[in-house]
Formats: sequence, structure tokens, C-alpha cells
Amino acid sequence: MSAPRSHPTSAAQTEALDFLTLYHAETSTPGMRARLAEVRRTGHMHLSTAELTHGARVAWRNSTRCVGRLPWKTLDVRDLRHVTEPEEVFLHLLSHLRGAFNGGRIRPTMSVFGPGVRVHNDQLIRYAGYRQPDGTVIGDPQNADLTEHLRRLGWAGGPGTAFDILPLAIEGAGRVALFHLPPDAAQEVVITHPTNPELSALGLRWHALPVISNMTLDIAGQTFSCAPFNGWYLQTEIAARNLADEERYNLLPAVAAALGLDSSSRRSLWQDRALLELNVAVLHAFDQAGVRIADHHGVTAQFVHFEEQERRAGRAVRARWSWLIPPMSPATTPVWRRSYRSVEERPNFTVQTPPWHVARPGVCPFHS
Ligand code: ARG
Repeated sequence: MSAPRSHPTSAAQTEALDFLTLYHAETSTPGMRARLAEVRRTGHMHLSTAELTHGARVAWRNSTRCVGRLPWKTLDVRDLRHVTEPEEVFLHLLSHLRGAFNGGRIRPTMSVFGPGVRVHNDQLIRYAGYRQPDGTVIGDPQNADLTEHLRRLGWAGGPGTAFDILPLAIEGAGRVALFHLPPDAAQEVVITHPTNPELSALGLRWHALPVISNMTLDIAGQTFSCAPFNGWYLQTEIAARNLADEERYNLLPAVAAALGLDSSSRRSLWQDRALLELNVAVLHAFDQAGVRIADHHGVTAQFVHFEEQERRAGRAVRARWSWLIPPMSPATTPVWRRSYRSVEERPNFTVQTPPWHVARPGVCPFHS
């Protein structure tokens, strides 16, 4: 019955065979036996577009930090494994951004590029963080290292606002080049509050799409170093972390002032009131703009639904509880009372080391 084995079974080959077995079982695609025999015989596997697509969707399904996994089967996967030149990568990233934004009806999308391609930015849309001589940062402090890296690659710097969109550093074909995102590709939402004009007047904004671009996709023993993917935002990511954290935009004092709160005593809970209204504002603004965004009550209820769906499919849900619970009012959500095993299964994603931490001989940063 079994095909002749002319190659010893390496770890990568075992992964390939495991993935093909999963692929055929989950998608009810016929021809599994022949496909497995072919891989055993040749010791080599080229993933078909259908296999790559399913593998990418399963990588999302296996992402232990993601609370928004219910729609994992809807991920739109763009097979761009033939693309390696930075200029071409950039054009495909523009169409990814436009297609995923889709006039606000955001579509979960992934683009998988060829070997040797990497985006140095950790997300396609990021705000600059300019370190000042006094140690403070204008913009997003989390992106200060990235901003300095891009300066070293030749970026002249932006206008210097708190929300300057960074250029992309795209590596491919042995070189790195910088590219600027046009406004229609880097869509943003201006943050307004439904009843408080002072809060609206703070001039806050955030980008509509979170497009993660610093994770390696691992399917069937093969790795894809450039496979940027997006879903839509959950409001707590923006309002309870990015804009609120002390080491990010640290805006709770400004929001409290706009709300006229007495911030002289922490026991007035002014921080919690400011946090709540900032979350109300982000949801309001995205809704007004017609840009899809989740809220922490809805997305956690969906996660419970995802767990039930997975149980019915005979699979165990792995998760990191500390990532699933929202950073505000966690005990009001159903995940609070649940527990999970945080086992990493493949296909999956792994975070890359930032390129400014790695010596990379042979890659010339100034050729662009
Ligand atoms: N937390 C990250 C941010 O605030 C985004 C992570 C992915 N989020 C998502 N909703 N897909 O930018």
C-alpha cells in the first residue's frame, strides 16, 4: 500500500506530511494518498495555492494571542511567492492595503511574498516616534527605534507631528528600499467623542488597519518571512493601550482635562473615567467613519462561539489568557472565567527579530 521511501524522513518532511494530512482532512480534498506518496518519493514539496491558503488560515486559527479568530476561514490569501523585488512588493502592498480597507468594510487579508523578502516595519502603517534631546518622544514611543532605523536607511524625517506615517523599508533581492504610503493606502480615523467637543478637539487619530508585517509564517516545514496580514481593530487596542499607556501616547491626563475631571486624587478614579470615555470615543469615531471595529464585549462573546465551533470540529482551542482578556473591564467578559492551555501548534506565526538588532552581511541598505 505505502509508497516506496527513497528518502529518510526529516523533521521538515514530517511537518510537510502532517500538514498535507490535515489539509486533505479539513478541506475534504481528494488525492491525499498520491500527494503524500509524491512528497515521500521526491523529498520535496511545493505548496499549491490552495494548500498555502488553508495553511495561512490555520495559522490564524492557531494564534494563541488572538481573541478575534472566529472568522479564520474568511482570510483572503494573496499568493505572491513569485514576487521578490522591493518595488514590486510595494505595489502589491498598496493593493493589499486598499483591498483590505475596502471602503471601511475591512477584509482580513494576507499577502505571501517570495524568498528573501522582508518588511522592516512591524506593521505596514505606523506612526513615527521622534526622540527629543530631553528624552521625551514626539509621536509613538514604541516606534522610536524603527524611526531611527529608517533615518539611518536615508529617510529625511516627516513634518514632526504626533501622527506622522512612517515610510516602509522593504528588503528583497539583496537590497533595502524605502517607500512612502499615499493617504488612500494608509487610511486613518479622526477620534471624536459623541458628546464631548473638548475631547474631539484633542486632535487624536488612529489608522484603520492593523497590518502585522514582522511575523514569519510557518506552514508544512516551510517559512515565509514576508507575509503581512490584517484583521480589523478591537477598540481597546487603540483606546486602552496605544493612546493610553504611559509608555505610549500617555493621553489619559489630557483626556481627563478635556472631560473636566478632578485629577488631584487617584481615588476619584479619574484615570478610569478618562479611559472609559476614550474607548467610547474610538468606537464612536470608527462607527461614524464607517470603518469596521470590534468591541471587547462582542469579540469575547465571539471567541466563546469560536471555542464551541472548534470543539464540534474535534479540535482543542489553545490560547494565552492574558492576551485574550481585554485591558479594561476584563471581568465583564466571558473569557475572564475560562482557562486555556497555551500550546503553540503549527501552522503558526513567529515574531521576527527587529532588523536593527541583527548583523546582516550582504544586504546593502543604501541601494534604493
Ligand atoms: N495591538 C496591535 C495594535 O494596536 C495590533 C495587533 C493586531 N490586532 C488586530 N485587531 N488584528 O496595533
